[in-house]
Amino acid sequence: MTPDELRLAYLDFMESKKHAIVPSSSIVPENDPTTLFTGSGMQPMITYLLGETHPEGTRIANSQRCFRSQDIEEVGDNRHTTYFEMLGNWSFGDYFKKEQLSWFFEFLTKKVGLDPEKLFVTVFRGNDKLGIGKDTESVKIWQELFAEVGCTVEDVDFSERDGMGDGRIFYYDETKNWWSRAGVPNNMPAGEPGGPDSEMFYDFGAERQLHENSEFAKLPCHVNCDCGRFLEIGNSVFMQYLKQADGSFTELPQQNVDFGGGLVRIAAAQNNDPDVFVTSFFTPIIAKLESITGKKYGESEEVKYAFRVIADHVCAAVMLASDGVFPSNKEQGYFSRRLLRRSIRYIHTIGYDEPFLAELVDVVAEIYGKAYPSILNGLPQIKASFTAEEKKFQKALAKGLRHFTDLKVIDGESAFALYETYGFPFELTQELAVERGITLKQADFDAARDAHAAKSRQGSAGKFKGGLQDTSEIATKYHTATHLLHAALRKLLGTGVQQKGSNITAERLRFDFSFERVLTAEEQKTVLNQILEWIDKELPVTKQTMEKEAAIKSGAIAFFSQKYPDQVSVYTIGLDPESDWISKELCGGPHVQNTKEIGKLTILKEQAVAAGVRRMYLQLV
Ligand code: ALA
Repeated sequence: MTPDELRLAYLDFMESKKHAIVPSSSIVPENDPTTLFTGSGMQPMITYLLGETHPEGTRIANSQRCFRSQDIEEVGDNRHTTYFEMLGNWSFGDYFKKEQLSWFFEFLTKKVGLDPEKLFVTVFRGNDKLGIGKDTESVKIWQELFAEVGCTVEDVDFSERDGMGDGRIFYYDETKNWWSRAGVPNNMPAGEPGGPDSEMFYDFGAERQLHENSEFAKLPCHVNCDCGRFLEIGNSVFMQYLKQADGSFTELPQQNVDFGGGLVRIAAAQNNDPDVFVTSFFTPIIAKLESITGKKYGESEEVKYAFRVIADHVCAAVMLASDGVFPSNKEQGYFSRRLLRRSIRYIHTIGYDEPFLAELVDVVAEIYGKAYPSILNGLPQIKASFTAEEKKFQKALAKGLRHFTDLKVIDGESAFALYETYGFPFELTQELAVERGITLKQADFDAARDAHAAKSRQGSAGKFKGGLQDTSEIATKYHTATHLLHAALRKLLGTGVQQKGSNITAERLRFDFSFERVLTAEEQKTVLNQILEWIDKELPVTKQTMEKEAAIKSGAIAFFSQKYPDQVSVYTIGLDPESDWISKELCGGPHVQNTKEIGKLTILKEQAVAAGVRRMYLQLV
């Protein structure tokens, strides 16, 4: 199946199981300061898993575009990618284990056409300390499902060291079969939901000898082994627990299902080939790379590796750009830059140094443009931006070369500094060092890089330390404050003022809006005083669910660039949501219940961002 066919097959299937199909959220989370990118389908669903009502009901499905920046260095083998689509379905207190496992099994065996003999599953072994038992219920369901299609079904309570015997169902502990945004139970902050999960693996077959030829050959193979014989293709999380401040777990008010399936991985299973880069998600890109460079994908490990990195990275960069993230030095933009520079660097390693990015963007647009029209709409801009970055990086490479000649000491640290500052590839430094009679070891470079990574990890750990709960309380205040700011600007400057973007961190809110000129000090004061007056008035914030058309008719503000489902939530600030309000917006929330919860605010800055677009920063004091 093509990417569009496989995605649609899943969404149609879930629709036949009475799910409302919703669009993929942005790859850049709107109001979640805890993370830079959407890395799983459930992130945009978190409030509903915690108990808010979803406007489309209790059964939701979609295909969510995800980006995992932490996997960037892993790309190059046959299965890691930074960009991927996660097929998702959710039960918000509706169905549970029985339906979830049966439907997923039915989808894989009947719609995708996978041979059930090649499917293996894992379930949670239970943990007395957590007070959460062994998931024998899922095992029973799996046993019945496999038996129905005539497969032998042993369940095995084994240790990885023992291999897998004749088993098909395996118990694992919470390091493998537990899922939350923060990982294992111990790492979860108070207020975070999570639960045991059941994972599905596809077996590419012992006869390929992937295990024997891997670095794990000395140990027995098992479904979670990294040799590549087994590929995880889907994960059903039974999200029913909430972490408490004292470290214990309580039941959430509802039993949820959070399912995530790897679209491209399911395609690889359907292909019965463990290399995701030979699925139709990537073959057009690889073909283009072959025609550009004159090299063949399979001709050497080096070419294969380079093509995989480039194919993934250009896809990811296009997806980010279609959601407004372009190469820069800050936040999300930094990753776009890294993706593009790594692509350029890898094409260099196979001896090609002409511009090539724009041509690849066209191919990515052919693969994904129908499902994600924002790629097609932004095509000229994306190509221009990538080409500019390409030119800039070629210059940076030249600069790095000049800087190299000035180096007094050539060691791991200076090589890493060159890499960090100019994006100057280590392999190049290594080659040049040889010309000066110096041997530079990869290990020295790695040590300098790890030291740097450890430092930046400490930085981001700090960001998380307040706990998701604390941070999201502040984010909620900022979110409502954003609506007040929007309303105050429109009241003073007219309804020509429209939101162009917003971003919230634990430290401040940022709001972009259409307006032609700088705001005078007087105007800024009026806007702030208006917001403070509304906060002082202790205005209630009301959430309503209604038809999109009715919402817009009632005066709610929507953003034309955004896709909305037919049923929407509307947040109104004011004494009466029908007749006495100051702000009404189509919005997913969350918000405070009363403006008084926001407290005091101040304006940090007002500036221009583009022609006709201004930006304001506000902070809680
Ligand atoms: N949220 C689950 C995952 O990402 C489904 O694996």
